This record gives sequence, C-alpha cells and structure tokens, in this order.
Amino acid sequence: MPTPQQTSLIRIHQHGDSSVLCLETESLPEVGPDDVLIRQTAAGVNFIDTYHRSGLYPLPLPSGLGVEAAGVIEAVGANHVREFKPGDRVAYTGGTPGAYAAWRVMPAAKVVPVPATISDEVAAGTLLRGMTAQYLLKRTFPVKAGMTVLIHAAAGGVGQIACQWARALGAKVIGTVGGPEKAAQAARWCDLVVDYAADDFVTKVRDFTHGAGVPVVYDGVGAATFEGSLDCLSPRGMLVSFGNSSGPVPPFAPGILAQKGSLFFTRPTLGHYTLTRQELIDTAEDYFTAVSRGNVHAEVRQRYPLAEAAQAHRDLEARRTTGSTILIP
Ligand SMILES: NC(=O)c1ccc[n+]([C@@H]2O[C@H](COP(=O)([O-])OP(=O)(O)OC[C@H]3O[C@@H](n4cnc5c(N)ncnc54)[C@H](OP(=O)(O)O)[C@@H]3O)[C@@H](O)[C@H]2O)c1
Repeated sequence: MPTPQQTSLIRIHQHGDSSVLCLETESLPEVGPDDVLIRQTAAGVNFIDTYHRSGLYPLPLPSGLGVEAAGVIEAVGANHVREFKPGDRVAYTGGTPGAYAAWRVMPAAKVVPVPATISDEVAAGTLLRGMTAQYLLKRTFPVKAGMTVLIHAAAGGVGQIACQWARALGAKVIGTVGGPEKAAQAARWCDLVVDYAADDFVTKVRDFTHGAGVPVVYDGVGAATFEGSLDCLSPRGMLVSFGNSSGPVPPFAPGILAQKGSLFFTRPTLGHYTLTRQELIDTAEDYFTAVSRGNVHAEVRQRYPLAEAAQAHRDLEARRTTGSTILIP
C-alpha cells in the first residue's frame, strides 16, 4: 500500500467533555532512524484517555488522544531494520497520546510484536489492560494459589482480565460490579460477585472470608471504594490503588493504615513497571501467552468508527461498557 502523506486522527484543542474531540487530518512526520510507521487497524479506548481529555491528567494542547493501537508496519527507521520489517504485525501502549489515528509514526522502542494467535482487535483493545493486570497480579502484589483477592469493577476492561488471570493463578476472586447485568457477566470469572450499587461490599467480603478479610484489593475505582477497600483487608494487607474511574482517592493520614491493620498502600502505574525494553517485551509477551493459552479471554465488546470517538468516551464514562472498547480508523 502506498504510504499516504496525511492521516486522519482525533485531536483536542482544549480540555473538557467529549464534545472537545475533533476529527482532523494532519501531515505524517518523517520516519526517523528510531521510528516505525504503522498502518493502524484498531486503537484501544481506555479510561486514561478520558483523564487526558478532561484535564485530570493535563496534556500540552493541541494534542492527539489514545495510548494504544495495533496495526501493520509499513516502514522501518534505519536503526531497527533487524528488529522489524514491513508487514510485521505490532501493537504499542504508552508514549505521547495520539493513538486515535489511521497512521502513526512511533518510536520503535515502544512497539511490541503481536503473535499470530492474537487478533489486531484484541491487541489494540486489551494490551494496556492486559499488561496492567500482568504487573498488578505478578509484581505489585503477587497472587498465590489459595489466596482470596478482591478486584473492583470486575466486568470492566482491566477487571475482567485481572479476575480471569487471578483465577488461573489459583486464587479465589471476589469481584465488584455496578448492576445486575454486569453481575451476570462477572459471575463467569469470579467466585463471588458483589453488586456494590445494591450491597455493602465490605460486609460481603467479610462474610465470604469468615471475617478474615483479603490480603489484597486491586482498586481501579478510586474515591468511591477507597475506604471500603481498606476495611476489606486482613492485617498487613495491601491496597493496590491503580485508578480513578470514580475520581481520585482523597488525601488521607497515614495513621489510618496503622489503625486498620498495619496496611500497605501503593499507587502504581504501568510506566514504572515497564521501564526497560526488556520489561516491556516480557510484560506484553506474558499477557499474550495468557490469552493464547486460554487463561484469559479478553473481550472487545464495543467497536466504533474513529469519527465516533466522542460516543465511545460518553459510553465509557457512563459505565455503559463492559470488557474493552476499540476505534476502527
Ligand atoms: N495504573 C495503571 O497502570 C493503569 C493502567 C490501566 C488502567 N488503569 C485504571 O484502571 C481503571 C479501569 O480502566 P478501564 O479502562 O479498564 O475501565 P473500565 O474498568 O472498563 O471502566 C471503568 C469502570 O469503573 C466503574 N466505575 C465505578 N464508579 C464509576 C464512576 N463514578 N464513573 C465511571 N465508572 C465507574 C464502572 O464499572 P461498574 O459499573 O461495574 O462499577 C466502569 O465500567 C481506570 O481507573 C484506569 O484509569 C490504571
């Protein structure tokens, strides 16, 4: 396919609600010696994109949006011809936002190969979430067989991958969800599902664990679940607070961790768990292997044309999505 001079992309010129997303066209930059040019077949829509858009995580403006995509390499910079060639299927997550685009010049160091067993849609829609589940479950607080763990938003993108993977590691999984439809879905990969819109999840967790609590809570919901999550932990347990879908966790006094059982609190990000090229490759490979082996069935459940990115944001923020969401350029 001849390389185009331009690409369509989604850009923002100001922070705000989903109406600030504009479909535009821009010239493609030169492919530098450390870059690859990717013809993108799908781009993932993640909660972090809404933080970039709203300004919770401010970006220099104007800016592209989107932190992950998959596609086919069309050109390779001189320094990477041994690693990549035109026609290779690849994906990436991270780097400067701008993945909502038809074509993209990316630093080759950010790009990972996609195995033949993984579709472009799954790579684009779940790489960030899958790599997040990988480091949370295996490196932030390693899940061991026989443990009972609590994972919030269990029908969501990270949630459904993390629940399935924790189970494959031998854990019993308690998952929380908002509403009966999501509860029915999450029952496929949780040992206990709690609809936290209807029930007190702390009581349910205490009952399920015969009062003991859990050694770890993986909490991507943030403000709404923070206190309850601490109350679910057994002594010396760890709250892994990895997201803000209900808003950021408010400031708190460290003494609360002592009062509630000498607890640990961490606020990790994928970037700090993929600092080196090797860590990035290993994390992606481990995730793709978990999918290929059937330990994790990563579902892309929402698909939108690139031009409808604003609707994808509205649906994600209104809690109307389950599993992962992609844009098709
Ligand atoms: N730190 C990291 O490295 C990292 C990496 C990737 C993602 N994340 C974070 O992980 C979390 C999940 O990301 P995701 O993209 O997979 O999203 P998601 O879980 O598919 O969607 C967010 C879910 O959060 C729940 N939620 C609870 N209160 C909410 C509220 N007030 N508004 C909106 N949603 C609410 C909803 O599920 P229910 O209706 O079931 O409650 C919603 O579906 C996000 O906070 C994201 O920022 C962190």
